[in-house]
Order: sequence, then structure tokens, then C-alpha cells
Amino acid sequence: MSGAAAPRRLLVTGGLGFIGSNFIRTVLAERAGWSVVNLDACTYAGNPANLADLEGRAGYRFVRGDIADTAAVARALEGCDAVVNFAAETHVDRSILSAAPFVRTNVVGTLTLLDAVRARAGCRMLQVSTDEVYGALGPADPPFTESTPLDPTSPYAASKAAADHLALAYARTYGTDVVVTRCSNNYGPYQFPEKLIPLMITNAVEGAPLPVYGDGQQVRDWIHVEDHCAGLLAALERGVAGEVYNFGGRSERPNLEIVRRIIALVGADAALLTHVADRPAHDRRYAVDPAKAERVLGWRARHDLASGLERTVAWYRTHEAWWRAVKSGAYRDFYRTWYEERTA
Ligand code: NAD
Ligand code: TYD
Repeated sequence: MSGAAAPRRLLVTGGLGFIGSNFIRTVLAERAGWSVVNLDACTYAGNPANLADLEGRAGYRFVRGDIADTAAVARALEGCDAVVNFAAETHVDRSILSAAPFVRTNVVGTLTLLDAVRARAGCRMLQVSTDEVYGALGPADPPFTESTPLDPTSPYAASKAAADHLALAYARTYGTDVVVTRCSNNYGPYQFPEKLIPLMITNAVEGAPLPVYGDGQQVRDWIHVEDHCAGLLAALERGVAGEVYNFGGRSERPNLEIVRRIIALVGADAALLTHVADRPAHDRRYAVDPAKAERVLGWRARHDLASGLERTVAWYRTHEAWWRAVKSGAYRDFYRTWYEERTA
């Protein structure tokens, strides 16, 4: 796509979730004249409150629909020239309890989007993937590069790896204009409080136990969601079809250090920290080498973890109504009619 006009009419899937909602807000703030259709199935993770400020705004339209539904995808894609696919089942622990929804959305859903993009001349697709497809690193291993072999361990990671393989196979077999990005663990505003950082912040505020899996020495490479969104925009505008770009924050930390930092930032009782049974097949370490994205896309992570975490704790402090409605499930009832009115 390099050299061609930038896409301006986006179909964003999964835009009511954590990263998708941040991405839509970034695009509409930073790209004058762009428009967004947001196709989201409104699963437990799809919260209309995440984009309530965009309701009724020119250039933004929401449609409730499933990315595995061929007809819904075809309708939503009308008039669009690019797809950014965030729609996914995303929580490793849920994938261990039941893998089928992960295969349906992450594999069949991505395939449905690829077929729709393939059939639409001039349409580009960005497949938003994860570093978890590479599997686990040992303590002395170099970080993942784009040529690290895929070796997923959880059903979630396996479903994302399958989607990546399909996307890259479509680029090679049919010349489909698809780019794959793989990012490390995100944190920031509007993250569903089942993931480590928002779970620990909100539990700490509530005075509830902070469940650390196993010894808490598992390492993740944290990146602020705004840095990920900037990378995705760069990949959409300057990425080469059939290529993979890794994004990471160069901020590796053991989980225990993150949890202790959150306890300090919230001012919570350190005795809330509770070691619980480890996750099965728990990946010991992730770390991403983002050099290719830095060199080719001219992108660089800007937020440092210390201040990013501090601002994130402050955000959850000032958005207590948002996360309390999520944790209690009240937002599902609140938006029941809203969902029905917007079903494709
Ligand atoms: P999320 O769980 O917060 O949101 C997922 C969204 O997808 C929800 O709005 C949900 O309603 C929607 N959705 C689910 N199934 C759907 C379907 N069949 N059709 C349409 N919409 C559907 O997820 P997130 O954390 O924002 O992650 C977004 C993407 O980024 C995912 O593809 C994930 O694999 C990838 N990713 C996430 C991280 C991370 O740290 N969160 C890191 C790297 C990559
Ligand atoms: P998570 O946010 O689920 O992301 P991922 O598993 O995709 O990396 O978990 C991040 C790390 O935190 C991971 O090593 C598992 C650990 N963890 C806990 O120790 N306790 C928890 O309650 C959760 C949700 C995660």
C-alpha cells in the first residue's frame, strides 16, 4: 500500500473493547476526514460506555454484528476501504475454560473478514495480533522478532496464531492486502478488569484480595495502549502487505513488581496480595523486539511504564462508575435496548 492514498473509511471490528475503542478515538482525533464503522458483537467485553462520547458524531457509526457472519460483514464493509480487526475473544483464562468461542471468533471470524477483503478491490486489512503466538521465552532468550517461529501454548494464543497464518497465507496465495501486527501486553484506560493491571487496581481500591498466579515471577513486556494505537495507524498507513510488525514497550517486568507498584500507587494494604494456584501452561516470559516497526514504520513507544502506570491508576480512580458497572455487570442491563436497536 506504500505510495497509495491512505485509507479513510475504516471498518473497525471489536471497537467497543479496550484497544479498539482507544484506536477509534485516536483515529477520529488525529485523522481529519476519516470515518469509522464499528462492527462489534457486544460480547461481555464490548461496552458501549467506552465510546459513549462519540455517539451521534459525524463520521462514526456503530453496528452490532458478528465477524463470523458473512452477510453482516458484507453489509458493514460497504463503502469502506480498510478493515482493522480487533474483534476477538482475548482472555487466556477463559480460553482454558472453553476454547470453542475463541476458535469461532478468532479463527472463523478472521477468515470471514479475509474473504470479504479479498473480494473487495483496493481494500486493505490490518490483523491485530499478539506476541503470545510466539510462546514462552526463557530468562536468557533474546526477545521475539517477526521471524521467531510460532509456538502458542494457550488455546487463546493458538487461535490467534491460526488467524495470523490464514492472513499471511491470503497475502501469498491471493495477493490480499493484509498486514499482521503482534503486540505485547497493553495497559491503559477502558481495559476490562479481568486482565492483570485493571483487576489489581480495582481490587486494591475495593480492598479485595490481589490474586497473583504461582510465584508471580512471570514476565510481561508492558506497552501503553496509546503507543499500540499509534503503531497500528503507522502499520495501516505504511505497512507492506504480507509483512508482520512487532510492537512492544521495551518494559519487561515480573508480575509481582507490577502488583506491588499498584499497591503503592493506590495506597492499599500490602497484605491483600495473595498467591493463588498457577495458570496451567503459564508462559514464563514474553519480550518483544520492536526494531522492525521502529525502522520501517518510523514508530516508537513514547510512554514509560512508571508514569503510564501512575496515570492509569489515576484514570481508574476517576472512572470508578465505569469499572463498578463493568464488575457488577450492570452495564449489560443498562445497554440492553441500545444493543437491540443497533443489531445488524
Ligand atoms: P477486548 O476483549 O477488550 O475486546 C474485544 C472486542 O471484540 C469486544 O468489544 C467484543 O465485543 C468484540 N467481539 C468479540 N467477539 C466478536 C465477534 N465475533 N464479532 C464482533 N465483535 C466481537 O480485547 P482487547 O484487549 O481490546 O484486544 C483487541 C485485539 O488486540 C484482540 O484481537 C487481541 O488479540 C489483540 N491484542 C490484545 C492485547 C492486550 O494486551 N489486550 C495485546 C496484543 C494484541
Ligand atoms: P493477563 O492480563 O491475563 O494477560 P496475558 O495472560 O495475556 O499475558 O495476565 C498477565 C499476567 O498476569 C500473566 O502472567 C498472568 C498474571 N495474572 C495473575 O497473576 N493474576 C491474575 O488475576 C491475572 C488475571 C493475571
